[in-house]
Amino acid sequence: MDGDDTMPRHIAIIMDGNGRWATGRGMPRAAGHKQGLDALRRTVTACSEMGIGYLTLYAFSTENWSRPQREVGFLLDLLKRFIRQDVSDLHARNVRIKVIGGRDDLDSGIRSMLVDAEKITATNTGLTLVIAFNYGAKQEIVRAVQRIAARAKAGELRVDEIGADSIAAALDTAGLPDPDLLIRTGGEKRISNFLLWQLAYAEFIFVPEYWPDFDGAVLERAVDEFRSRDRRFGGLKARE
Ligand code: FPP
Repeated sequence: MDGDDTMPRHIAIIMDGNGRWATGRGMPRAAGHKQGLDALRRTVTACSEMGIGYLTLYAFSTENWSRPQREVGFLLDLLKRFIRQDVSDLHARNVRIKVIGGRDDLDSGIRSMLVDAEKITATNTGLTLVIAFNYGAKQEIVRAVQRIAARAKAGELRVDEIGADSIAAALDTAGLPDPDLLIRTGGEKRISNFLLWQLAYAEFIFVPEYWPDFDGAVLERAVDEFRSRDRRFGGLKARE
């Protein structure tokens, strides 16, 4: 697949439908999140095997704090479990881990786990797995504007030097290519404060499957549909 320029280089996924998957089976919502972690693991493996360069997963939004405390606690525990159980295996599989989102609202234990996971895998050259946790795109843009304004105030940057490149470089996703393909599971058709800047030219694919049912086959169907689309980037012809 290497060098095939019809393949998406970067896939972003809104993993939705864990709760509905569970309640439809008479199970607590937490059971859906637990199955969701298995789907996440399957997806990382499938993307690695397909030669995808970057996979960004929306694991916890800034708005998710408003869920019942028990569910929030479960999702925080799931993140810890994932980091504890999976980082060494992902490292062995040459996966580079990066976490985006606000760190200040997370407790210091989780913060240092995330920093360690990023450090351990920093020089890996396979799939880059970006976990969006405590992530909200508007908040990310606010942080970027604050950084840029501070640099301008310090005289490090002239106002007329501020452009799309300097804004992109101040976002949490600095250095990552923009997603080519956004997939949202669970049937809803909205963006939910995810990567508002970075998705400017992404293709959007909405699939009805709930996230716990997501697998390599659903992923391949989405990638096939992506490859059949004519991406013009505002011009007249795809991939000039
Ligand atoms: C959306 O489903 C899903 C989430 C808010 C959490 C996503 C978490 C995982 C996939 C598990 C892996 C997690 C970590 C932290 C590594 P929903 O609960 O909104 O589903 P609903 O729309 O059916 O209620």
